[in-house]
Amino acid sequence: MKVTVVGAGNVGATCADVLATREIANEIVLVDIKEGFAEGKALDIWQKAPVIGYDSRTVGVTGDYSRTADSDVVVITSGLPRKPGMSRDDLISTNAGIVKSVTEQVVKYSPNAIIIIVSNPLDVMTYQAHLTSGLSRTKVFGMAGILDTARYRAFLAEALNVSPKDIQAVLMGGHGDTMVPLPRYTTVGGIPVTELIGKEELDAIVHRTAVGGGELVKLMGTSAWYAPGAAAAQMVEAIVRDQRRVFPVCVKLEGEYGMDGVYLGAPVILGKNGIEKVIELQLNDDEKALLETSRGHVQEVMDALDKMNQANA
Ligand code: NAI
Ligand code: 2OP
Repeated sequence: MKVTVVGAGNVGATCADVLATREIANEIVLVDIKEGFAEGKALDIWQKAPVIGYDSRTVGVTGDYSRTADSDVVVITSGLPRKPGMSRDDLISTNAGIVKSVTEQVVKYSPNAIIIIVSNPLDVMTYQAHLTSGLSRTKVFGMAGILDTARYRAFLAEALNVSPKDIQAVLMGGHGDTMVPLPRYTTVGGIPVTELIGKEELDAIVHRTAVGGGELVKLMGTSAWYAPGAAAAQMVEAIVRDQRRVFPVCVKLEGEYGMDGVYLGAPVILGKNGIEKVIELQLNDDEKALLETSRGHVQEVMDALDKMNQANA
């Protein structure tokens, strides 16, 4: 299997490293626009192989998409990360241009690839990649829900003093402060989380999850990369190994949840064909209201992108 990761910065290089270290793909191509950067990162990952013991081959290129030809999966992480005081939406104009030009190159050389978007604002950049590639929702979708649920699971594991492995959770909506964690669907080793933790503490964890990206930006001056890179690699693994994993993924809703045409996080089955199925949960009225608020926010940014694209046409 051949996997390309575009953007050799913090998230892209981490994703390539996890793909190599866990031997998820046997050929990994890292691409960046900055001269020599991807080559250096890829060489470093390859030189770690004898130490850790893996044989996935990682190569880096500067803007040479012919080297990415016939990739099975492409992860797009290129674009600016946010700085303190910025929202993900502040990145829209710069990152839309980057995602558009990168997607054009990707589909030119790998017309059959499945594309996973990571660049922010995530839901709207996934929409941009769909507009540029013309690919159906099964083949172009975004990574955010695995990261957001990972944060939620990590906070819960800490509060309950249990292994994060035993916490199962799903989270919906846009990748932003209006995301919709669903405590009703959270279990700890099969036990509903509400039997193990008080409402106040759980509400605080839900809130910390929703602003979890911002917490890291404040601490580090740029956004996170270890968990995001690993989350993108986990999506690649589900596809290349046809695992049919159930994950929250940013997907175009086509009637599910009474919504049409908007890109939002929802639980899906991920397998060799990309999105094999969008799962429709039976949300209660409160959950539906939260999802509607999130939809409204993402739709506004999608509309802003449409206007920008019309102005640039
Ligand atoms: P970074 O600045 O470390 O890396 C971005 C890389 O993209 C840079 O190396 C840059 O040279 C490269 N790049 C820029 N334009 C390019 C082009 N046209 N072609 C190829 N490469 C290009 O940033 P980081 O931290 O890796 O974040 C990348 C993106 O991912 C940001 O937009 C960030 O907001 C987003 N992100 C999304 C997450 C999610 O959950 N969806 C989580 C974390 C970050
Ligand atoms: C995050 O949630 C910035 O989207 C990025 O860490």
